[in-house]
Amino acid sequence: MMRSTTPRQRLAIVAVCFLCLGAASQPRERALASYTTTQAQAGEETYQDVCASCHKPDLAGASDTPQLAGDTFLGMWGGRPATELFAYVNAAMPPAGRKPDADALMDVVAYILRKNGMPSGTSRLDSTASGIITRATAER
Ligand code: HEC
Repeated sequence: MMRSTTPRQRLAIVAVCFLCLGAASQPRERALASYTTTQAQAGEETYQDVCASCHKPDLAGASDTPQLAGDTFLGMWGGRPATELFAYVNAAMPPAGRKPDADALMDVVAYILRKNGMPSGTSRLDSTASGIITRATAER
């Protein structure tokens, strides 16, 4: 014989279902992209050498060149994996002229993270990293 549920039990089941749906739709806590200070230092040199002529030495950009550090940049790249930024840079930047190798461009991405206030860590940024870019308040 099937036992039927009481209204109270049905209410409880519905409540549990909503809780589950809520949990599933929450954004997952995602780790921040990590890079080392050594990487960012190497990246700074390459950046000033290859990128600064267009994006400016302070990464502020210009009327025809996007900002690489600050609110506009974070509005575009915040929440996305640092490896996506690397993939873009590696594919498209600089638009012309001498292109640094992939390792050097990875270091430039580390430098961009630092200039956006993200803290450095103990693991190097590389193509297998899964951390995201985010607004952070550490010293630049
Ligand atoms: C000759 C000028 C020039 C140089 C040099 C240059 N860029 Fe760019 N960059 C641009 C322009 C212009 C854009 C806008 C996208 C486009 O039109 O391709 C851009 C876009 C970008 C973007 C996307 C920003 C966004 O939010 O849309 C990134 C990241 C970037 N550049 C990084 C770099 C890095 C890193 C270097 C050096 C390795 C570099 N760029 C060198 C001109 C330049």
